[in-house]
Amino acid sequence: MSHVKKAIIPAAGLGTRFLPATKTVPKEMLTLVDAPTILYVVEEAVEAGIEDIILIAGRGKHAIEDFFDTSYELEDKLARAGNLNLLDRLTKIRNMANIISIRQKQALGLGHAVYCGKSVVGDEPFAVLLGDEITISQNGQKSVTSQLVENFSETQLSSISIMEVPDQDVSKYGIAEVQKISGCRYKVLSVIEKPDPKDIKSRMAMPGRYVFDSQIFEEIKNAQPGLNGEIQLTDSMKSLISHKGMEALTFTTKRFDAGDKLGYLKASVELALMNPELEIQFRNYLIELVKGWGK
Ligand code: G1P
Repeated sequence: MSHVKKAIIPAAGLGTRFLPATKTVPKEMLTLVDAPTILYVVEEAVEAGIEDIILIAGRGKHAIEDFFDTSYELEDKLARAGNLNLLDRLTKIRNMANIISIRQKQALGLGHAVYCGKSVVGDEPFAVLLGDEITISQNGQKSVTSQLVENFSETQLSSISIMEVPDQDVSKYGIAEVQKISGCRYKVLSVIEKPDPKDIKSRMAMPGRYVFDSQIFEEIKNAQPGLNGEIQLTDSMKSLISHKGMEALTFTTKRFDAGDKLGYLKASVELALMNPELEIQFRNYLIELVKGWGK
């Protein structure tokens, strides 16, 4: 029985959708309330029992590694000032997981980025979390990655998250054709990367959370460039389905596309409304703001 203890987080993208902010700040370090987006993703992985986080990074991403490292000066200052809550938060962040950084030296696609983690993952099953997607569990809900890890433990089958999207959005995602097993559990029949809405048999999109059998590395190794000339993860998933099978799960947690300006703003607002320090004042501010629109 294999357990999922490792996760790959691809973080090599240039973040062009957030220029000029991302000229000097990695998009993974853009802030949602008071934490960089990458922290929400790493927290989701850790909550699912992941111990080793493999960041697939590109040039100019040192800030991510530094964020999960010790900052002696800062921690000493907080300790002397007696700011123990904040010190505790920083200590937890640097101890939450082993962060292993690997360079993706060429931008050859998501499949290639995942393949860059092979030497660390070896032949274990592993999770992949795409950093543009943020999922937030509330009131004891299981995170999306926890659900996938549990499904893998029970079935030993690669497991992915899916969500229904409107017709006009199918061309933004990898789409899975699925057959219901029971409840939120589905068998994956096929997957296709960003199809034309005219050609689709399904509107179940893959929002960037996966747990894979290590066989996926073999499939990626044998893959040919696909859409946009890139090694697409979705194409290798297709081969994995035919060789080993795959399941998909729908989820009820909140999810934001923080890689898009509107999605990022929505995530900022909703996370602020969940923050005990800000909740009441921010809610009142929003109410006043909306009232003003009618005038
Ligand atoms: C990638 C994947 C796609 C997936 C999406 C989720 O696309 O290739 O299959 O549905 O992430 O965000 P990208 O958004 O990087 O173009």
